[in-house]
Amino acid sequence: MRRIAEPFQDTPGGLLPALHAVQDALGHVPREGVPVIAEVFNLSRAEVHGVLTYYHHFRTEAPPRHVVQVCRAESCQAMGAEALMAHVQLTLGCGGHGQAHGSRSADGRFGVEPVYCLGLCASSPALAVDGEPHARMSPARFDALIAEHIAEQAEAQA
Ligand code: FES
Repeated sequence: MRRIAEPFQDTPGGLLPALHAVQDALGHVPREGVPVIAEVFNLSRAEVHGVLTYYHHFRTEAPPRHVVQVCRAESCQAMGAEALMAHVQLTLGCGGHGQAHGSRSADGRFGVEPVYCLGLCASSPALAVDGEPHARMSPARFDALIAEHIAEQAEAQA
């Protein structure tokens, strides 16, 4: 972490680019790295923590392996997005229905996030699995989709 942050040490406003560099390299900015970064920039831990938590872009935990984004914008809402979100969360073990900022499974394998329009309004409800959008989604279609997606990923890694 020190090795990643130090090149920005003498740059005015170097903390933000250093945090970006850490997240780019590690996928997140681990909480245990805050004291190291604070030392590099001669800041307090609270100052670094404040910047880290102010920007929603930064993650302090490793991202889930698979992210499902469920559209909760108007057209999808009208076509059952709430029930779809509840089903996705239950199926993937990602916490309670109605969480505004997303949730993740206990094993960190899955994350579920709300998204506001995937550009598939005419074919609502829609969701995206690891960035790939899918329209006319139903609980049954989601179950088939996620099973197929996981099987493909496992095959690709074998
Ligand atoms: S409202 Fe859901 S895709 Fe546009």
